[in-house]
Amino acid sequence: MELTNITGLRGEVTIPGDKSISHRCIMFGSIAKGITEIHNFLEGADCLATINCFRRLGIDIQQNGDVITVHGNGLHGLRAPNDILDVGNSGTTTRLISGILAGQPFDCKLSGDHSLNSRPMKRIIDPLTEMGANISSILRNGCAPLYIAKGKLHGIHYESPVASAQVKSCILLAGLYADGETSVTEPSLSRNHTELMLKEFGADLRTAHELDSTRATAYIRPCEELYGQKITVPGDISSAAYFIAAGLIVPDSEILIKNTGINPTRAGILKVCEDMGGDITLLNERIEGGERIADILVRTSKLHGTTIEGDIIPTLIDEIPIIAVMAAAAEGTTVIRDASELKVKETDRIETVTDNLAAMGCRVTPTFDGMIIDGGRPLNGATIHTLLDHRIAMAFSIAALIAEGNTNILDSHCVNVSYPAFYDTFEQLL
Ligand code: S3P
Repeated sequence: MELTNITGLRGEVTIPGDKSISHRCIMFGSIAKGITEIHNFLEGADCLATINCFRRLGIDIQQNGDVITVHGNGLHGLRAPNDILDVGNSGTTTRLISGILAGQPFDCKLSGDHSLNSRPMKRIIDPLTEMGANISSILRNGCAPLYIAKGKLHGIHYESPVASAQVKSCILLAGLYADGETSVTEPSLSRNHTELMLKEFGADLRTAHELDSTRATAYIRPCEELYGQKITVPGDISSAAYFIAAGLIVPDSEILIKNTGINPTRAGILKVCEDMGGDITLLNERIEGGERIADILVRTSKLHGTTIEGDIIPTLIDEIPIIAVMAAAAEGTTVIRDASELKVKETDRIETVTDNLAAMGCRVTPTFDGMIIDGGRPLNGATIHTLLDHRIAMAFSIAALIAEGNTNILDSHCVNVSYPAFYDTFEQLL
């Protein structure tokens, strides 16, 4: 994809459904009794991988545009797949489905693409094993492909070393199949869609925050059944983030981004934009299906650098590539720290972000847990090596809009993972 600098992005965009919520609707609908009807489902490759896995596990899932109907078979209604489950590029599919599979009375294997099979799975293998699961890394390298054999689970209390919604959700889902109570404490609260949605499906789940610290705990007890729901998926703030950034840094722009989820465990980017001096207004705020939603109005702003660290990191972890692009456009220095999780995303995003920013002429220094960006210098067009990471492709497509000369985004088709219509939405603003 070749892109060049522009001015005046104006108009209204509607962002496709939230990736995290779309995955969960399919998974919870599959193990619930009755029909789950999902509107505004994200038809990205990751969520389609989840659908395919549950079809292989015997669930009838009908797709009609962005409306999905899941004919759930109940908590104990999955059947053994006759082949390896293909999880594609999706860490969420892998880690969450493993929690469900650990509690099934059959054996199965799952595997993904090169990137997925390099990502750490020990973080779920350890707690699941502690619960009595028979789960192993087939190549004994702590990564997928995974083999999950039938096992009898018992509840545990797990202190997660990382604030990871995928780890938390994996353990809570296994807890549906365990004897007794299962609980997970994380150092600071990661996205809580699993907790919110499992409760809607009828799970026996509660959450608690420690008053004098940022630690958060979720507790689950097994229940008889979950029950199918009707769900409208809010727009994905992680996808909206590219248009928020574009609206702020492209001269003479004003963009209204409709129906975006602003769950506080996901909305750290809004706070960062505010801290950087961004002109952002939330309109029409409301709550639907337990999730907070708003329309977001952004206007071109003169941004300045900031420091991003600590508990806010899990609430914006997927937005760091685009935040780094905003930081490159902002006057002064931006420091991002406490974000070593970036190294185990679809690519090592400390490396992919800083290498590509440097290629565009930005003064940037990678650190062991983040990066330091000296912004405000003009960017030049460059060849962007996405390494097939969807968020790198989209973040640097926005950087291209303020760079002098042409930018070539290699393998830009990887946006299909989370936002197949990204470039089409973009054209609506020209
Ligand atoms: C996700 C959780 C996050 C995020 C990922 C989606 C989820 O990962 O990076 O894109 O849907 O639970 P971690 O929970 O591992 O930080």
